[in-house]
Parts: sequence; structure tokens; C-alpha cells
Amino acid sequence: MCGIIGYKGARNANEVVLKGLKQLEYRGYDSWGIASLSDGINVVKKVGKISGVDDAGLGESRIAIGHTRWATHGGVTESNAHPHVSSDGKIAVIHNGIIENYYELRVFLRKEGFKFKSETDTEVIPCLVEYFMKNGSSFEDAFREMLLKLKGSYAIVAVNSDKDKMLVARKASPIVIGVGQDEFFVASDVPAFLEYTNKVIFIEDNDIVEINSKVEIENVVLGKKVDREIVEIDYDIDQAQKGKYEHFMLKEIYEQPDAIRETIRGRVNGARVEFEKFGLSDDYIAGVERVVIIACGTSWHAGIVGKFMIEALGKIPVEVDYSSEFRYRNPVIDDKTLVVAISQSGETADTLAAIKEAKSKGAKVLSVCNVMGSSVARESDETIYTRAGIEIGVASTKAFTSQLAVLYLFGVYVAQIRKTWDKDHLKERLEYLEKIPEQMEKVLKGDKEIIAAAEKHFLKKNALYLGRGTNYPVALEGALKLKEVSYIHAEGYPAAEMKHGPIALIDNKMPVVVVAVQDESYEKIKSNIEEIRARGGIVINVATEGDKKIKDISDIVLYVPETSGLAYPFLTVMPLQLLAYHIAKFRECDIDQPKNLAKSVTVE
Ligand code: AGP
Repeated sequence: MCGIIGYKGARNANEVVLKGLKQLEYRGYDSWGIASLSDGINVVKKVGKISGVDDAGLGESRIAIGHTRWATHGGVTESNAHPHVSSDGKIAVIHNGIIENYYELRVFLRKEGFKFKSETDTEVIPCLVEYFMKNGSSFEDAFREMLLKLKGSYAIVAVNSDKDKMLVARKASPIVIGVGQDEFFVASDVPAFLEYTNKVIFIEDNDIVEINSKVEIENVVLGKKVDREIVEIDYDIDQAQKGKYEHFMLKEIYEQPDAIRETIRGRVNGARVEFEKFGLSDDYIAGVERVVIIACGTSWHAGIVGKFMIEALGKIPVEVDYSSEFRYRNPVIDDKTLVVAISQSGETADTLAAIKEAKSKGAKVLSVCNVMGSSVARESDETIYTRAGIEIGVASTKAFTSQLAVLYLFGVYVAQIRKTWDKDHLKERLEYLEKIPEQMEKVLKGDKEIIAAAEKHFLKKNALYLGRGTNYPVALEGALKLKEVSYIHAEGYPAAEMKHGPIALIDNKMPVVVVAVQDESYEKIKSNIEEIRARGGIVINVATEGDKKIKDISDIVLYVPETSGLAYPFLTVMPLQLLAYHIAKFRECDIDQPKNLAKSVTVE
């Protein structure tokens, strides 16, 4: 996701917009830009963070728009930074979201004589407005006509050098209007203008807004002008960056449904998975003999889930290795091995080095990354991006589930090419995936039980996490989350392995968290739970909604909706993320910046 802001009023618009962009930097920080209206449209764009920039060098203006980019289409370059301007230089636009049919629109506009200066999807927007204006439409009508051509998600702000107004449109990407004293703000999030006003109008999907001397809103689906309530925001600027959340980690846990929606968006077409501009050919994928997944930490846990997904769907043998081990193991790989490198930050030194080792042995490297233009992405032969948005909390949450979404899509993609399953089976797999965001929202509503469990156990010194099959790596991830943010020692284990050692630890002081959903290993894992209870152990079960019997062998039950075996990890990890968060909160830990940790481990 990106940060957008616009201003119209008596202040120096360039100053207001520059400050607003800094407030929004957490939303995207690979590049930024401002367009201001004074004697035409003046634009400044820069690669890199905006923090530390005191003056954009744009002088005075009364209308300006600005954007911090978190790249989705096109590399991290000045030309790809927003705002984007029409060919005649009269229309400037900033955009948050994904225009799924941008390629067809570029083809159409090229035929109409337009030339593009960037690789972005966004640039089609100002050019379409110019196209319709050249065909006789007013700025306002051309803006509406442009919207009718777009497929995908957008929050758009547009200005015209000949007009004293801003036009705004929203579909599936957030945008709010700030209402001051004879001045107006528009932004992707309230922090951008909260120091000037706390009166906001939340714009809804399919709203078109005209900001001139007042705010006029029309909803194109209702086909009429609408009045949206002006509400007063009751949190201060410092809080606002986290919105209503006390910590970024909690905010990011709650952002997971949207992160999955964004990661899937434009990549599922009926029963098929499509990756835009994917550089690994079908012949290459068909010829791959094995996959080696390399990663660290939470990304390594995602890799183990990915192993289950790619093997079950693509029927290719997959092994998973720590990047730090792989790079020194003199791995036996060759040009028939596909190495998949998973990294949220794209800057993890061990993973970067492992990629170089893989390439030196002739393997192709596909990376799964959350930061466009990062070192891992640049070093790889191909990258499939998670679109989780910038992840600020050091403990990774939304990036983890977004990685699972990419690995799941990739498993279906391989299955399509290698014809390992028929279309109906693959269509059903994709239907399970597309239900996940809504099911995640259901899990998030159940946090009362999780807070109660946290309050009961936050003083414990140790914990054991158990799972089987695809939920074994979920147990590992749950244990890592607890360690990272609460400093309680926790270990994840395959449930059946407990009998081979850890069972010696079972007592009434150490909670055992078991992922015991009704998948293929349900009966077996119930026996493991009985073994724990027989020794006076404390059992917290993550179970499938509707499973009442599990209560008889639980001290606490945390429910998740029913789904398929391959898709359960998306849901079962969430109570464990929330449990770790709330335990850390009761222990008054520094949740977003835990001691000794860094968000990106760029050293060996
Ligand atoms: C996860 O919560 C940790 N912050 C850490 O284990 C992290 O997953 C690991 O350092 C890998 O980071 P990457 O995904 O950016 O490569």
C-alpha cells in the first residue's frame, strides 16, 4: 500500500503535503513525490525515504498532492514515483491500489498516440482523463469516464492546472477527507493531516468527490449525490500512525485479511493462477526436478508450510533449509533445481548469500518478497511479491500469512503447468483461498478468549507448542512469536515427537499449546493431548469451530473456522499471534521493537 495526501486552502500546500507524507511514511517508503499548482503543475519526485527532507524546493502553492510509494508495478525509480502527469502536463494524479487492466489500457492509449514515461499501472489514469478531455469532456466528466474504464482497486486524487479543485475517487483502497476552516485535506490515512483538523469524512467505495470551496460527493452506484457524515477523530497524532491500535504488531495482525486480498488480487482468474510478467517459462517449470526453499525465522516457517503446498499441488519434491545452513553446506543442486528464497524485508544477509550460492551452482532463484526493489528481489531470477504493505512491527505477522498466500498460489500455478490435478480440483483449492480473508476476520472477532488465556499464563516461564502436518510449522511460528515479543522460552515441536523427549517437561507449570483442528491428523493429535493431560499438563487447544468434544480435553479452546488442510495455517496462526501479543502486553514488553531484535537482519 502507499501513502497519499492532497491539500487545498490558504496555507502553503507544499509544506502541508511534505509534512503529511512524513506521517504516512510507514505506508510506503521506497520513493515519494509532490505535484503543486502554481503557474502550471510543478512536480518533484525522489527515490528513497522522505524523512529528513525539509524542503521539496517547490515554493508557495494553494493546491498540492503528494505520494509515498510502496511499489507494486515497476521498479523503485524516480520515473515510477507518483504523481503521474498527463502528456499535456495539465493533469496530475496520485493513486493507491492496483489497476488490474492497466496493460490493455496502455495498449489502447498508445494507439491513441500516448507515450508512457513509467512502468506503472497508475500512469494510465491521467492519460485517460486527458484522452476524454481531448474528446470534448470537461475535467469532471473526463474523470468519471476514466473511472468507468478501470478494473481493480484505487484511491485516486487528481488536479488540473486550469482548475481550482481536487477530484477524488475510491474503490477498495482507503481514503479520508479532512475538513478544516476553509481548507480541505484528502489522504489515505488520518495521520497525514491530524495536526490541522480532527474533522473527517470517510469516503466509501464508488464515491466521487469534488473539493472546491466545499466538498461535494456523488456515489456512482447509487447514481446520486450523497451526504457523508463529518466525524471527529478522538486520538492524537502519535497514536494515529497506529490508528486505533496500541502497537504496530496488533495493527498488522488485524491488517491480515486485507493483506491476503491484496496479495491475491489480479492473480486468480477463474480457475487459473496468473503472475504478471512472470519470467520463469512453463517449459522450465515443467522440467524442474526439485525445489529447495531457503529462508530465516518466520519466513523459514512459511517455507515449511510452502513445502506441503507445493508438494501436494505441484507434486514436486521440496526441501526446506535455513539460508544460513544452505550457504555453507556446499548444496547438491543444479539447473534442474528451483531455489525459492522467502524474505519479508528482502535484505536478510544469510538469504542473500544463499541466493548467490544457489546461482553459482546453476540453479534458478524465485524469491517471495515484501519489498519491491530489495536486494533479494534484485538478486533473484524472478520475484513474486507479497502485497502485505510495509510491516513495521519487528515480529512478522501479516507478511507471514501473505507469504503463505504466494506459496499456495505458486503451488496451484505449478499444478496447472504440470497438469498434476484437474481444473475442478484446482478451482476448489482457489475457492478455499479466496474465503480466507473473511474467515480471518471471524478469528479476529474472537480475541476475548485469547486475552483471557494470556492473562492466565503471562507469568509462565516456558511453553510448548505442538502441531502435525501443515500445522507443525504453525506450532514453530507460534513459539517464535511468544519468544520474540514476551521473552518467555517457548519451543515448537511436531506433536508426535513429544514422546521422544519433551514429554519429560510436562507439568502443571508449563502451558502446552496444541493446534488440534479437524484435519487429517485430528484423531492422532487428540491422543497426544491425552498423553499431556495424563501427566497433569495444561492444554490450550486451537480447534475447529463447532468441535464441542475437544473441550473435554482442553483447559482453554481457541476456535477457528473450518477450511482445507492446506489452508488451515492461514487461520490457526492467528490465535497464536494474538496470544503472544497479549501475553507480551501483560508483561509490559516493548512489543514493536523487542530487545536485541531488528526488523531486517542484514548481518550474518
Ligand atoms: C520474525 O518475526 C522475525 N522478525 C525474524 O525471524 C524474521 O522472520 C527473519 O529475520 C527473516 O526476515 P526476512 O523475512 O525479512 O528475511
